Amino acid sequence: MPSVLPDGETVPDDGALPPHALEGAGERPLGFYLHVPYCATRCGYCDFNTYTAGELRGTGGVLASRDNYAEQVVEEIRLARKVLGDDPRPVRTVFVGGGTPTLLAAGDLVRMLAAVREEFGLADDAEVTTEANPDSVNPAYLAELRAGGFNRISFGMQSAKQHVLKILDRTHTPGRPEACVGEARDAGFEHVNLDLIYGTPGETDDDWRASLDAAIGAGPDHVSAYALIVEEGTQLARRIRRGEVPMTDDDVHADRYLIAEEAFEKAGFSWYEVSNWATSEAGRCLHNELYWRGADWWGAGPGAHSHVGGVRWWNVKHPGAYAAALAEGRSPGAGREILSEEDRRVERILLELRLRDGVELSILKPAGLAAAGRALSDGLLDPAAHEAGRAVLTLRGRLLADAVVRDLVD
Ligand SMILES: C[S@@+](CC[C@H](N)C(=O)[O-])C[C@H]1O[C@@H](n2cnc3c(N)ncnc32)[C@H](O)[C@@H]1O
Ligand code: SF4
Repeated sequence: MPSVLPDGETVPDDGALPPHALEGAGERPLGFYLHVPYCATRCGYCDFNTYTAGELRGTGGVLASRDNYAEQVVEEIRLARKVLGDDPRPVRTVFVGGGTPTLLAAGDLVRMLAAVREEFGLADDAEVTTEANPDSVNPAYLAELRAGGFNRISFGMQSAKQHVLKILDRTHTPGRPEACVGEARDAGFEHVNLDLIYGTPGETDDDWRASLDAAIGAGPDHVSAYALIVEEGTQLARRIRRGEVPMTDDDVHADRYLIAEEAFEKAGFSWYEVSNWATSEAGRCLHNELYWRGADWWGAGPGAHSHVGGVRWWNVKHPGAYAAALAEGRSPGAGREILSEEDRRVERILLELRLRDGVELSILKPAGLAAAGRALSDGLLDPAAHEAGRAVLTLRGRLLADAVVRDLVD
């Protein structure tokens, strides 16, 4: 969740949605994202809405403290119940993300999940994920999460090489994320993800191969691999500007992506979104699929975004402001926008084109269709899928996904 919030219209104090947002809601899957805005230290590349203890000191007082955070999220889940009314939908997915959710006690994460269950009910086959930092879990912690209803866990591994972890300011040691996969399996987690980053300054192709081998060898059923984004305002951006570390160029990113695709294919992982691979359909992250397919989700926590029936809103960013709003019985919503038909069309193209199933050609306008024809001739779109009425990226197209998307939305 990027830390810069958009502008928008005001959210009413009771958080009420325009009635049209709830029309047909029963037909759409509902997910919950629960944000935990705390980290032990800040990684130099990270722009997420998260705070270290030092950053919070003096800015939110006791209200912003980690100790009472779970209760604040529970309060927002109760608000969600009031806003969504007698919504008959059991929740399909819950995703606790951060920040570092595992900086909280396992009991706090279980309490937040229990609130979703109490207020809405969980579908029998609900996917319940938490993100976790490898150095903030142990077997007892994982067992408590599993017993409390979590069935999927996502570890931030990033790299297997010490010098890469150092540039990224990661605090865990090489080998620890792989060990976490075993501990999670022993605790009974059905689904385990490892996040990797490629293109870190100083990383070589061989370093990246070693990270892929280590990740695959650990036995997760899902891997996310992201090109390092140098976000403005981060410590990493400042170091690159000062010339202390080199910037990675796009050709290197493309080479690393091809290396990843080859390693994953060989190990039995298939891509289902440009940055995501799984060993089976059951291993895919259903929660992210809800986002990508424009379903409904409620995001609780500071800076969290929500989407219900074409209305998108976002919460106040700072944990102190978030706690204060809930303490006063107000919605923590900071702003919202009602998506127009055109906004939703563009959003569908942006998100669905990155999926293995691609996007229907029928929602493209004439300029977008012409661009799809050019992308086809350039080998960026799959000919058989195009023939069948869909725009689906080829491997070469995946390397240039952002550019293809930009052309197709016209
Ligand atoms: C919310 S973060 C992290 C979860 C957890 N706090 C961790 O770091 O292990 C989710 C993932 O986003 C990715 N990420 C964060 N910032 C990034 C950046 N600037 N460029 C590429 N990937 C990034 C990392 O792979 C990270 O694991
Ligand atoms: S631990 Fe994760 S969320 Fe926290 S600063 Fe590092 S990448 Fe960002």
